[in-house]
Amino acid sequence: MDQTQVAGDLELDKTLYTEEQIQGRLKEMAAEIEADYEGKDILLVGVLKGAVMVMADLARTLNRHVEMDWMAVSSYGSGTTSSGVVRILKDLDTDLTDRHVLIVEDIIDTGLTLSWLVTNLKSRKPASVEIATLLRKPDALQMDVDVKYIGFDIPNAFVVGYGLDYNEKYRNLRCIGTLAPHVYS
Ligand code: IMP
Repeated sequence: MDQTQVAGDLELDKTLYTEEQIQGRLKEMAAEIEADYEGKDILLVGVLKGAVMVMADLARTLNRHVEMDWMAVSSYGSGTTSSGVVRILKDLDTDLTDRHVLIVEDIIDTGLTLSWLVTNLKSRKPASVEIATLLRKPDALQMDVDVKYIGFDIPNAFVVGYGLDYNEKYRNLRCIGTLAPHVYS
């Protein structure tokens, strides 16, 4: 069964980005990252669970050594909105002192979680902290954190697939799409 059919069966309203489009954009982002970090070590920091797919594909697209580490955080909020109040469920195993940290994100919506994360990681005395995200929503433009690498700017809709979930489902889709409205109700 191909992924389009899977997506259809799982009630995707519309495919926003196909597997090919996602992989193509990740290649371009990886080329930029390789150029910017020439001669420097990189520690990729992924935020569980949404960033798993982006991290796996971006890391493998980078034609150089990288280290990877993970954090799990929980953002207190209701349903599909986040409040910016964050609790660490799993911290990094790596000491960030003098490290070049590149946070790898699946999506930035309000940016509240990310803004908190950047402040938290910067307090650990790294050499640098930058952000790479596959998707960015319009509200994120108001946040006061610079995002250096952006895959796609998307409209303000709830999207799933490629790591992104609705009630823990759809993460395993290879494409990214919007959910049919009736799935919410
Ligand atoms: P923010 O703090 O508002 O930027 O939201 C951060 C988190 O909310 C993301 O890492 C996702 O886990 C989740 N999120 C925001 N928008 C979406 C979406 O459209 N689909 C699935 N998850 C989303």
